Amino acid sequence: MISPFIVNDKNLFLSRFPVAQVNRSLQAWDSADEYLINYVEEQGLINANTKVAIFNDAFGALASNFCHSASEKPTVICINDSYISSQGISYNLEQNSLDDSNIDQLNSLDSLPNDIDIILFKIPKSKSLLIEQLIQIKKSVNHNCIFIAADRAKEIHSATLKVFEKHLGTTKTSLAVKKARLVFCQFDNKQIHQSPFPTVWSLAHISTNDSPSRDFSISNHANVYAREKLDIGARYFIENLPKVAANSKVIDLGCGNGVIGLIVLANQPEAQVQFIDESTMAIASAEQNIKTNLPESIDNCQFTLNDSLTDIEGGSVDLILCNPPFHQNTATTDHIAWQMFKDSHRVLKKGGELRIIGNQQLAYHIKLQRLFGNETLIASNNKFVTQSAIKR
Ligand SMILES: C[S@@+](CC[C@H](N)C(=O)[O-])C[C@H]1O[C@@H](n2cnc3c(N)ncnc32)[C@H](O)[C@@H]1O
Repeated sequence: MISPFIVNDKNLFLSRFPVAQVNRSLQAWDSADEYLINYVEEQGLINANTKVAIFNDAFGALASNFCHSASEKPTVICINDSYISSQGISYNLEQNSLDDSNIDQLNSLDSLPNDIDIILFKIPKSKSLLIEQLIQIKKSVNHNCIFIAADRAKEIHSATLKVFEKHLGTTKTSLAVKKARLVFCQFDNKQIHQSPFPTVWSLAHISTNDSPSRDFSISNHANVYAREKLDIGARYFIENLPKVAANSKVIDLGCGNGVIGLIVLANQPEAQVQFIDESTMAIASAEQNIKTNLPESIDNCQFTLNDSLTDIEGGSVDLILCNPPFHQNTATTDHIAWQMFKDSHRVLKKGGELRIIGNQQLAYHIKLQRLFGNETLIASNNKFVTQSAIKR
């Protein structure tokens, strides 16, 4: 929905990203963005000499406020794990004709500068990402730096505040305004915690070719799906993968740590596998997992940060394997699955296959039937269903 985001008399028109998404009833900012901006402006915390780091700004509601005034702009660094968020920020800055020469974007694995004056921190949905970001912040920044976090009040639990206390120091909260709350932290906890990430778990693989069965070691950065153990849906999917012909072009779409593509390569070393995800940490983990477990296959792989299959050539791929997401930030949505299926139909060669896994109640078969005109049930149990659709 494009309605104006109005704070401090500034009028911004912000869209969720990607813009074409079906689910347009959700807005591109929340009351925590508003509260944070109003607070820093009322307190006069930011001026032209300030270096601001903004974490997890979903679609640029925070960033766009700091390139709005003609002069007196602070230096701003936006840090996101999400490729879609970083694209959304750039898109919204451009749509509002804002001069973004004061804004730099970093991904979640880039080192943080040590001369930041103020951190504006939207609390991420993933507790692991929260912990990792706080550890990196504590390690890198000057401890006189101001730290203000924000979220919807209902998302800030006493356990969340304990994470801030543990990793940064004294933590206080504001009153709730429009159901949002701010969290203020000092950097006075002397203890520096070691990052528990990447986590590593082991995956037993029963070979379907001549190579011996073995255990793979799966490494996962903080924001990777199924970072503690193999997802039960992914396990069922692995048990029901198609036989892949040599030289097939395969995409592991929404690859996470890359387990699906890894198994494809273990069973068919002659396949060409492209791993695609919108999370920097996922792509880095997938690449690491091929390098560790199947180093001989690394030249057959591509690792691509992307929003679904944007800009991938039409009619170019034999097989797409997908365990689709059903969240964007905190919103539950099936628009990403829909986008992935639609893109797959475009990108598959004639005769190519999209094979997916989903919870029974998501009823993905209706979407596949609508897009491909066919779908086949491959396997189902009381929780999951694996389906296949062929491009005719
Ligand atoms: C359910 S997880 C599956 C992960 C892994 N394939 C598995 O089975 O364990 C879905 C993945 O899709 C990724 N994702 C979400 N939106 C995406 C998008 N628009 N484009 C590409 N990947 C996306 C998420 O980051 C996540 O890694």
